[in-house]
Amino acid sequence: MSSNIDSVLIEDRLFPPTEEFAAKARIKQADFDALHKRADEDYTGFWADQARDMLDWHKPFSEVLDDSRAPHFKWFADGQLNVSYNCLDRHLADRADKTAIIFEGEQGDVRKISYQQLTDEVSQFANALKAQGIESGDRVIIYMPMTPEAVIAMQACARIGAIHSVVFGGFSAESLRDRINDAAAKMVITADGGHRGGKIVELKAASDKALDHGCPSIESVIVYQRTKHDIPMQDGRDIWWHDAIKGQSTQCDPVWVDAEHPLFLLYTSGSTGKPKGIQHSSAGYLLGAIVTNKWVFDLQDDDVFWCTADVGWITGHTYVAYGPLAAGGTAVIYEGAPTVPDAGRFWKICEDHKVSIFYTAPTAIRALMKLGDDLPNQYDLSSIRLLGTVGEPINPEAWIWYHKTIGKERCPIVDTWWQTETGANMIAPIPGVVATKPGSCTIPLPGIAADVVDEDGNSITEANKGGYLVITKPFPSMLRTVWGDEQRYVDTYWPKFGGKYYLAGDSARKDKDGYFWIMGRIDDVLNVSGHRLGTMEVESALVAHERVAEAAVVGYPHDVKGEAIFAYVVLKGKRPEGGVDEALTQELRNWVGEQIGPIAKPDQIRYSDNLPKTRSGKIMRRLLRNIARGEEITSDTSTLENEDILLQLQGKA
Ligand code: WT7
Repeated sequence: MSSNIDSVLIEDRLFPPTEEFAAKARIKQADFDALHKRADEDYTGFWADQARDMLDWHKPFSEVLDDSRAPHFKWFADGQLNVSYNCLDRHLADRADKTAIIFEGEQGDVRKISYQQLTDEVSQFANALKAQGIESGDRVIIYMPMTPEAVIAMQACARIGAIHSVVFGGFSAESLRDRINDAAAKMVITADGGHRGGKIVELKAASDKALDHGCPSIESVIVYQRTKHDIPMQDGRDIWWHDAIKGQSTQCDPVWVDAEHPLFLLYTSGSTGKPKGIQHSSAGYLLGAIVTNKWVFDLQDDDVFWCTADVGWITGHTYVAYGPLAAGGTAVIYEGAPTVPDAGRFWKICEDHKVSIFYTAPTAIRALMKLGDDLPNQYDLSSIRLLGTVGEPINPEAWIWYHKTIGKERCPIVDTWWQTETGANMIAPIPGVVATKPGSCTIPLPGIAADVVDEDGNSITEANKGGYLVITKPFPSMLRTVWGDEQRYVDTYWPKFGGKYYLAGDSARKDKDGYFWIMGRIDDVLNVSGHRLGTMEVESALVAHERVAEAAVVGYPHDVKGEAIFAYVVLKGKRPEGGVDEALTQELRNWVGEQIGPIAKPDQIRYSDNLPKTRSGKIMRRLLRNIARGEEITSDTSTLENEDILLQLQGKA
């Protein structure tokens, strides 16, 4: 928690919505008050109202919340529906010709897809999946570039009850293989490649490499042709997307599934062990997606919503592939990097497609801010009426830049706190009502019971005192379990407070107005460019290198990425002279990039003869963190068996 006067002053700046925005917003003060009142008076009744109002049910539910097996909660359990039906078919009566997706490739190719076309393409591809033997409950891995086909593949799985797991195209073959095997997936849907940063991302090559290492559950691979460069196809296993859909009907009856039927798995890092397959439900998840698209993003019929996240992350699930479609909106998809052909690309896309709602991460905002105002000022950004951020706390400087240079001091900024596990925004302003403060995600949404508690689970009432961020009541869009590991679900999310509260893993404080300020993680999880990485994952990758004996990884602040990775490495054999070996450092960085993905490459590597450990053998992370951050050392170093190690760790020997 910061106690310096400057930040206290900044915290007090309050930005109420303009009258113009408030007048047109979906949720006005009276609606807001009514929502909160209903949620306070009858919590489950409130969610039942929303579920009836916002979703189309094949079989209505009679039971709202089943908490008999807490923390394994069920919502709307005896109801049946189909997610793809709710995103597509139900809009055909009044929106068949409305644009559902505006796509722009990195090379400038543009495609607009109407609700009717999207329904046809999803149905046709769903039939292709069935023809390849995919059935309800089967797991399908999607490893695709950011093209409409990624969304089509996801929606097609949902249509037939198959459980998808999207793997971010920036992840390596090794990461892909681990996820395929953990999910015991039957199929991979990939592409020859994608365009990013002026280069081709070799998705098929990575997928082949993953499968070569042994993925016994995989029966077939569907390959979408995007880049049209030469790639090998394996007979009997690989089939082109365009061949798979050939002759398939554009009619495909949705498979009605139970509300709790798993819609998808999405792998995310934890502090220990391999990534967890976060399992989401069908109805509860979709409800979270649709309500937050309407409440937080104020998504209306004439809006063009661009969430810049890749579908490989939860943000791309909820605010690209499902939520905007469930709400009948228009979503923008951009394939490539923000810097091609220059760093004005985002703003050019906003101008060209008249984007009205723009949602991105603080790391992108900071990177673009560094390049100055000239680029954004070259474009007409007057279509934008709402801005959003997600992934990490946004620093006030970046917030103000976003507000002035992009929002022209006209647009509310919704700073949305949530997680892969929560499925949808949890703490965020409703923009026509809640005044914002730079750096705060403001207050919990109606129906979301968030709090900050002390070690004993008592609510902290003192303003600005830090504690654990918890959710004290179950909510529809929450994860249902960790795929294949119920115990890990219980141990990770319900370990404290008698298992009564969901533990988010973040620390936070509430100010005098009850606004939430996220302070950081309570575990060994890094947040690099708004994405979670377990320190242990990076450490495991390092020790998998033949020359590495031991490794410890910590984060330190980085002005664009939020957090950067500092690795302390003990080599097998001799420590390099003076602790410097540029060639090896480069090799280890690339190695980690291959093992996990470029995002996980350590920014700095320092070699020492040993790692500092406590008497019980635990690595002294606080010490390593102090050193990486150039801070004063607060740990007791008297137990270090060799004081020289300290100098080595500090880069002084
Ligand atoms: C973690 C979740 C949810 C999609 C993006 C990341 C941090 C997320 C905010 C915010 C401060 C934030 C938290 C959280 N985080 N949004 N608005 N302000 N911190 O998803 O990979 O599941 O990471 O990101 O630490 O626990 P994720």
